[in-house]
Amino acid sequence: MQKLVFDQLHAFIKIAELKSFSQAANALQLSQPSLSRKLKQLEASLGTELIDRYHRPLKLTAAGQFFYDKISVVLIEIDTIGHMTKRMVAPSAALKIGFVPSVLYGLLPEVIAMLKQACPNLEVSLKDISSYQQIAALKSGDIDIGFGRFSHQDPWICQILLRHERYVVALPKHHVLAEDTAPLSLKALTNNRLILYHQTHLPAPTTLTSSEFVSEPLLNVFAQYGLTPIATTKVSDLQVALGLVAANEGITLVPQALQSLREGQICYRKLTHEDITSPIYLHTLKDVRHPAVNQLLQAVYQVYEKYGITYRPQKFDD
Ligand code: BEZ
Repeated sequence: MQKLVFDQLHAFIKIAELKSFSQAANALQLSQPSLSRKLKQLEASLGTELIDRYHRPLKLTAAGQFFYDKISVVLIEIDTIGHMTKRMVAPSAALKIGFVPSVLYGLLPEVIAMLKQACPNLEVSLKDISSYQQIAALKSGDIDIGFGRFSHQDPWICQILLRHERYVVALPKHHVLAEDTAPLSLKALTNNRLILYHQTHLPAPTTLTSSEFVSEPLLNVFAQYGLTPIATTKVSDLQVALGLVAANEGITLVPQALQSLREGQICYRKLTHEDITSPIYLHTLKDVRHPAVNQLLQAVYQVYEKYGITYRPQKFDD
C-alpha cells in the first residue's frame, strides 16, 4: 500500500518536472499507460486533477501546483532520511570534501596536508561544488563536509563559521589606482566597471523587501555604503573575472587569499573598510557526521595558528 502511494507520488513529480508523459515514463522506466494510471489513482484519492492534460506543454492545475510545492519538499526529506540512515550504519571510508574554488586557491591544500599528517590512513576526496549545491550534496551523501562562503539555515545542517576573510581590490596592473599602495575606499572604485562572478545570491533578510535588498554579493558590499558602481559585467567564475581584470576590462573584489593569482598582470590593493569581508563556513549534517570531521576542524585551526590567523574555536555538539 505504502509503496503504491510512493510510486504515485514519484510519477506525479516526474510528470510535473518534465512536463511530458512520455519523458516522465522514460525517466521512470514505465510504460505510458502505467504512468497515467498512477497519476489517475493519485488524483482520485485527492479528489482533484493535478495536471492540465489539455495544455501543451503540460501544466499543473492550481491544486497540482500546491501539491507539488508541498510534496516535493516531503519527498526530499524522506530521501535524506534514507541516505542518512544508510550512512549512520556504514559511514563512507573516504572523507568526501566539497569546496568552493576560492578556498582552494587559499588554505584548503594546507588544511588537507595537515589532516593527512594527523590521519595518514584516511582517504580524502575533493569535489568542486557551489555553496548552495553543497547542502543537497550533504543530504544525498555526495559529500561529508562542505567549505563554502554562504550561510545556510537548514534544519538538517550544522554550520560553523570559521572566519571572516577580508576582500581586496583587483585592479589592472596599469590602472591609475594601482600607482599608490595605500588602502582604497569603496567610493574611489565606483567610477569603474565592476566584474561580478558569484553564482550564489544572498537571501533577503526578513526586515527588507526584495526590491530594497541587493542580493548580488559584490553589489551588496557597495550598497551597504550607499554606493553603486557605474557599470557591471557578469561572468561565470572567479578565474574569468580575474582574466577580465588582467585584460583591463574592469575591476573586482576577491578574498585576500587569491592575491597571488595573475600577479604579473593584476595589482591587489587593500580596502580601508575592515568590515568588507567574505565569511568561510564549514557545513556538515547535524545528525550523521563522518568520524573524521572533528580531525578536519582541528586541522583548519592548526593552519590558522601556523599563519597567526585569529579565529574563535568551535566544536560540533555531540
Ligand atoms: C580558510 O581560508 O580559512 C579555509 C580554507 C579552506 C578550508 C578551511 C578554511
